Amino acid sequence: MNDALSPIKTLLGEGGWSTDPALLGPRLVDHRHRYHGSAALLALPDSTARVADLLRTCSALRIGVVPQGGNTSYCGGATPDASGTQILLSLQRLDRIRRVDAEGFNLVAEAGCTLLEVQQAAADAKRLFPLSLGSEGTCQIGGNLSTNAGGTAVLRYGTMRELVLGIEAVLPDGRVLDQLRSLRKDNTGYDVKQWFLGAEGTLGVITAACLKLFPLPFGHATAIAGVQDLDAAVALLSRLRARLGDSVVAFEVMPRAAIELVLRHVPGCSEPLGSPHPWYVLAEVALRSAQDNAAEEFTQALGSAMQAGEVGDAVLASTESQRLALWRIRESVPAAQTREGASIKHDVSLPIAAIPEFVRSAGDAVIARVPGARLVAYGHLGDGNLHFNFSQPAGTAPAAFDARTAEVTRLVHDLVAARGGSFSAEHGVGQSKVEDLRRYEDPVALDLMRRLKSVLDPLGIMNPGKVV
Ligand code: MLT
Ligand code: ZN
Repeated sequence: MNDALSPIKTLLGEGGWSTDPALLGPRLVDHRHRYHGSAALLALPDSTARVADLLRTCSALRIGVVPQGGNTSYCGGATPDASGTQILLSLQRLDRIRRVDAEGFNLVAEAGCTLLEVQQAAADAKRLFPLSLGSEGTCQIGGNLSTNAGGTAVLRYGTMRELVLGIEAVLPDGRVLDQLRSLRKDNTGYDVKQWFLGAEGTLGVITAACLKLFPLPFGHATAIAGVQDLDAAVALLSRLRARLGDSVVAFEVMPRAAIELVLRHVPGCSEPLGSPHPWYVLAEVALRSAQDNAAEEFTQALGSAMQAGEVGDAVLASTESQRLALWRIRESVPAAQTREGASIKHDVSLPIAAIPEFVRSAGDAVIARVPGARLVAYGHLGDGNLHFNFSQPAGTAPAAFDARTAEVTRLVHDLVAARGGSFSAEHGVGQSKVEDLRRYEDPVALDLMRRLKSVLDPLGIMNPGKVV
């Protein structure tokens, strides 16, 4: 028994910790298998009070704590370092929906609830919790909050920051910030809860949150459209938003290369349109009621776009299973790209109007540097957010392409910065983009972040080495 850890084992109690390699092993490798860490112990507290005791003790003992939700971070944000001295903190036993207030359109969920469980609790009360991500079955609300998760419904409902009314969080010194309020208006000074959103566990541990709910849509109209280029996709986005306003819930783009990867690697997906198109838009409109004419408006807008030459072809899903099949294509792109071999990924955002030119310039620049690299730029065009990824040249060694990552990423991020964009739109900073934050962030903002970190976590025990 490691003596230094015995106070921690004692306070966590039986079932509250583990050193079993079978339990720890999968949690010590990040989702993309780029970071391999080690940990002294896996902490599995079952209450906010236990999390508070844990952090207080870790502060006293100067032990680093790495919070982890569903372990789906793309940036190594939840993987401990290799020292073996840090504690990996899972919130999985804080998994209760504490209350659902259907009339007030909010619910309180603990950090270890999966996103799917929260969506289902809302649906059971005939309400919608709109955050929607490929990993929603496994990612946890605490991780969604800590990374300010985005996903496919941001265009209509915003990122996690906009979906939160209050939080409960434990500070590194063990104090509990108890702000689980459901108030829509609250101008009492600084918005302290927002400090913890997107902080990736570097300022404290979110243990629960009061989340906004929305009316459940009566149904959806979903279409896939083939377009010639991203200029046409941007024009279509503008046309749909002008005509349908907030009814447009999602507007995703995929290049032909992404569709081909999905068709090659994901069984059960089929060609979405009669003939191939350079780019595809997956757009979805929510219907408020049986009387809502948004579906007709959507069809008419697509017809006008075809007449204007913006859209080459389009298909509307006529059944729920067709709709799910269209979403399956979109949501399978990351897995299909992984199966294709090595990839260099970026999660960038830009002013929407700048995206077509950026994709051309940055695509050309990378391919000039790494001949044969295959551009697979897909994602949330409606939010100005693209996953600007490259797959390895066909028939080459994955390791040779992996070795170019730093160089390619620097090139891409420089081009993003030159256009006023962000190198981290929705995936966070974690450990993979710490240098980028230093390089590209406004120095005043960076200084404020560092000061905040040193005030809230003066001993540096919270997720050391991440973000700032
Ligand atoms: C997505 O939009 O599919 C994800 O955020 C990016 C990814 O999984 O690569
Ligand atoms: Zn995404």
